[in-house]
Amino acid sequence: MIVRSVACLKKRLIARKFSRSTKDTWDHVLRNSHGASLKGLTESRRDVVRTILNNTEVSHDHMTPELKLFLLTENCPLYREPFLDKDGDRRLDSLTRTTFQDPFWSIYWPGGQVLGRFILDERERIFGRRGAKGGALRILDLGAGCGAAAIAAKSIGPWQVVANDINEVACVAIAMNAMLNDVDIEVSWENLLKRPPEDLYDMIFVGDLLYDEEITNILITWLENAHARGARIYLGDPGRHGLTENLKKRLRLLRRYSLPENVKRENHGYDTATVWEFAAGTK
Ligand SMILES: C[S@@+](CC[C@H](N)C(=O)[O-])C[C@H]1O[C@@H](n2cnc3c(N)ncnc32)[C@H](O)[C@@H]1O
Repeated sequence: MIVRSVACLKKRLIARKFSRSTKDTWDHVLRNSHGASLKGLTESRRDVVRTILNNTEVSHDHMTPELKLFLLTENCPLYREPFLDKDGDRRLDSLTRTTFQDPFWSIYWPGGQVLGRFILDERERIFGRRGAKGGALRILDLGAGCGAAAIAAKSIGPWQVVANDINEVACVAIAMNAMLNDVDIEVSWENLLKRPPEDLYDMIFVGDLLYDEEITNILITWLENAHARGARIYLGDPGRHGLTENLKKRLRLLRRYSLPENVKRENHGYDTATVWEFAAGTK
């Protein structure tokens, strides 16, 4: 009994020490941030922000170490918990349970990591030699999760970048990550796939969204429509179910990356991930 309560106390102290440095970082970000709408979003959801700060850490331990991201890493006490059932686990308060119920945003997925790396490495190939004129370029990161692709794109050019994710907690995390990296982007949680794409985006990045066949079918039809209207589309994927041989015929392989050891460990069975582009005139 005594041994259990000592262990429990130790666990709590580690969690408190751990979250303090994350909170210090955030206080500094808030003091120096200029992005009014991002700041507004985080201030309207202070409870979620606090829960994210309590349970994640700022990580560079991924394929785009140039970017700092609030992630649920191996060092975080919650990392070893299974995905949380909203009503199930009474050891955690209800806000923690809801915030971390579907925490796709707290992981930087292999498809997103290679896409982020590709954006930072291949700036000219993707954006050409656009300088200040690139400000007119509209870019969408669809299913943005932690927002890394959007943040990577915005960190290298003056374009207008929208990070979209249907999960509202993800949108708060995206706003936090954008502020942490001192970039100003738009964040939206509308389900864009519910209506045909408008002629709004010049470029669309999709990281690791082919994990489920149902979403892939809807997504690919939507992307084909956007591609027909002139959008350039880049997908990052480690070889999920939705990346069928039939779909590959419509894509051009741009670059394949070996995944680092920690990413392989987290994503059993995947050693590489690939960046693809929708190819013109293919169907
Ligand atoms: C596996 S995660 C990938 C996140 C990020 N792109 C990455 O690679 O790290 C998939 C994300 O897509 C989001 N998502 C699922 N369906 C969506 C939809 N219809 N529109 C926008 N986002 C969606 C989920 O909420 C989740 O955050």
